[in-house]
Amino acid sequence: MTHIEIQIPDDWHLHFRDGDMLNETVPATSRCFKRAIVMPNLVPPVTNAKMAEEYSQRILNARPEGSDFEPLMTLYLTNETTSEDIVEAKQVGIVAAKLYPAGATTNSDAAVKSLDALFPIFEEIQKQGMLLLIHGEVTDNHIDIFDREKEFIDRHLTHIVAAFPELKIVFEHITTKDAVEFVLAANDNVAATITPQHLLLNRNDLLVGGVRPHNYCLPVLKRNIHQQALREIVATGNKKFFLGTDSAPHEKGKKESACGCAGCYSAWSAIELYAQVFDELGVLDKLEGFASHYGADFYGLPRNDGTITLVKEDWTIPEQIILPNGNPIVPFFAGKNCTWKLKV
Ligand code: DOR
Ligand code: ZN
Repeated sequence: MTHIEIQIPDDWHLHFRDGDMLNETVPATSRCFKRAIVMPNLVPPVTNAKMAEEYSQRILNARPEGSDFEPLMTLYLTNETTSEDIVEAKQVGIVAAKLYPAGATTNSDAAVKSLDALFPIFEEIQKQGMLLLIHGEVTDNHIDIFDREKEFIDRHLTHIVAAFPELKIVFEHITTKDAVEFVLAANDNVAATITPQHLLLNRNDLLVGGVRPHNYCLPVLKRNIHQQALREIVATGNKKFFLGTDSAPHEKGKKESACGCAGCYSAWSAIELYAQVFDELGVLDKLEGFASHYGADFYGLPRNDGTITLVKEDWTIPEQIILPNGNPIVPFFAGKNCTWKLKV
């Protein structure tokens, strides 16, 4: 196949950041995605309706001329979140609440310390018809970082799903065979997003031949059997698994550091890299469902009008990009070949 046309896709998990950075990240995502679920882990985090509305406006202001890109806003849960916060969030059109266990990842220190105490809030989220988006990792020091997703399933997710059968839950950026199996076995209100990096890479790509800070993200890359499980499930075209890039920019200096930040900035190549993976798997016919249908269907939103075209063409992902503040950032898969290209 030399080209493929798919309905305009959406990104169901994304970090835009704020301020100047929006002039980089909003055009990068809106070049091919019509909508994106915008993560709320700013400093300070987006914990109420007013903050989300103001942030949404800043994103809209950063759209390129003529763009009809639509940010879908989320609320950052803390142990101080009240039912009123959820009601107000719903009233201003916030579609989902994001659960970060405290300390699990970038800007999550203010997040949820006691998960059980949040059950009344999950009840309200369910009542309001909003979705619950979960970063599924425990944070205990004694739990090995490679086991944290599995431990979260056993200790928390199983109970949340059982207690709230009507609540739509997205298990975000899943990384393990265990997560695939859990989602498959769960009811139809449980789905998962999958990133390009977890389909393309495993932990060898992080650690063999030297530490590769630009492949460091959270949840961390796992062993190849897990990567394989993710590739196998997207190849089946199962509607519970859909696109969420988790594109998460950090400046070059913050990644190449003694204590490097977690996150891969994939917005400039994500749709192309997904196409590359689906092509490698021989299932390009499954790309449209994953990228453009299943997420919208799960969220109860209309599918997009219009199409994008991807052509089979080699190109090299840039070694770095200069941010609006003048500092460099290294995009995901920098300097590597990509076999598909968005036709503009
Ligand atoms: O790698 C990650 N980066 N994982 C996350 O969960 C957060 C994200 C970020 O905000 O940088
Ligand atoms: Zn994320």
